[in-house]
Amino acid sequence: MSISLSLIYLAATIAFIIGLKKMGHPATAKNGNLIAAAGMALAIAGTIFIHDLQVPTSIYILIGMAILIGSAIGGWMAIKVKMTKMPELVSLFNGFGGASAALIGLVEFSRGGGDKMITTTIVSGIIIGAITFSGSLIAWGKLNGSVKSVIKIPYHNTVNNLFLVGIIAFAFFIVTAGASNEVLAFGLLAGGLIYGILFVLPIGGADMPVVISLLNSLTGIAAAITGILYSNMVMLIGGILVGSAGIILTVAMCKGMNRTLGAVIFGTFGATDSVAGTNKTLGTIKKTNPSDSAIMLNYATNVIIVPGYGLAVAQAQHIIHELEELLTKKGVNVKYAIHPVAGRMPGHMNVLLAESNVDYSLLLEMEDINPQFKNTDVVLVVGANDVVNPAAHNDPSSPIYGMPILDVENAKHIIVNKRTMKAGYAGIENELFYNDKTVMLFGDAKDALTSLVSELKNM
Ligand code: TAP
Repeated sequence: MSISLSLIYLAATIAFIIGLKKMGHPATAKNGNLIAAAGMALAIAGTIFIHDLQVPTSIYILIGMAILIGSAIGGWMAIKVKMTKMPELVSLFNGFGGASAALIGLVEFSRGGGDKMITTTIVSGIIIGAITFSGSLIAWGKLNGSVKSVIKIPYHNTVNNLFLVGIIAFAFFIVTAGASNEVLAFGLLAGGLIYGILFVLPIGGADMPVVISLLNSLTGIAAAITGILYSNMVMLIGGILVGSAGIILTVAMCKGMNRTLGAVIFGTFGATDSVAGTNKTLGTIKKTNPSDSAIMLNYATNVIIVPGYGLAVAQAQHIIHELEELLTKKGVNVKYAIHPVAGRMPGHMNVLLAESNVDYSLLLEMEDINPQFKNTDVVLVVGANDVVNPAAHNDPSSPIYGMPILDVENAKHIIVNKRTMKAGYAGIENELFYNDKTVMLFGDAKDALTSLVSELKNM
């Protein structure tokens, strides 16, 4: 490889690392994304124009057309996508990454020529790429509702595990026998595709973000394997970065939900029908209305807003920002409490509130805001449920026992906005709603907040 190409790859690698680092904070995330994308563009351009590809001009034309078509479709999709549909898009992109790795494996299969190391790399790329492709497509379908929960296969975990062992044994045979018949490669591809479907199909819809993050990391591993195959450092490092970032995110999400990865993959959490709202032992709830809620907020000194999944569903991010600005003008201290897994995807609340230009300094992470609830006059919970459920502290039999939560119950007054008494993602009752300090403001978040804002404007 020429020195100039090595330098280009080095620059691209540095751009990936700086980009990833900048993506760690909402204020720098956009730039981080652009820097990483520029690094990728540099790596691609270097590979095409400086690498001695030794291919006819027609291939360059094909590459150019593929880049143009791919960029146009990808750019159009990314511009058009709604924030709530982001996990779907990520899932599709993961799938394409996996498909590329699998296709490269198929093309290169005959290159193994008995070399065990090269063949191992190639078959690993085919298997992981195929699993990522079909698994991501199923995840995408489940998120957009086109793939419904399907018939339960009896002992599906055992069936899945045996199937995976079968694929690995088949791959082991190919490597040790030094087999190079391409039919075998297609067999592996089919096995990987079927396993990807079996793996993702039984997983509960709301667990999809965790699975997508896991599949994302598999895409990275598949890319890294391809990097080894072509001795291409930038591909290897890029793949490792994606693989490790995906794993870290997966672990962080599981920690935020106090669940093991095994429980997400093999469990049925959140899949049961809720019995919330029918509990007679917790007492009665107190209803309120926008006018009384506005009075409470108007005369408060410190207010904390807790956004949750319902805020995203109602698309109430703009009106909540308006409420916050209105209260601030009236001299109220307003902050937002951000739980790491509030919503349905990592950073969901940050992204949503950033869309309505909420000042980042007002968004406080769970560890920072929890000690502040006891000095707070009013907490306004909007479309959040599990992340404020005290059962996580008080009820060892609860599925969310041990999950870190926002200590909302320590505040002096609590207003909870949601539409009904139905449960959240975990499908369980929330004793916070029955707390003496809590009043329930029923209604769609956008409607309720709009009424609240107009009441406040009249005060
Ligand atoms: P949830 O516990 O799911 O509660 C959301 C609440 O919003 C529901 O109880 C619902 O009650 C209400 N709601 C729905 N639509 C609404 C609307 N239009 N207006 C007002 N309220 C509405 O949400 P959360 O507190 O944000 O907790 C997130 C949950 O998702 C956690 O259990 C977490 O583990 C899980 N999860 C998170 C992630 C990530 S990475 N964020 C990934 C997978 C799973 P009504 O139906 O009565 O309105």
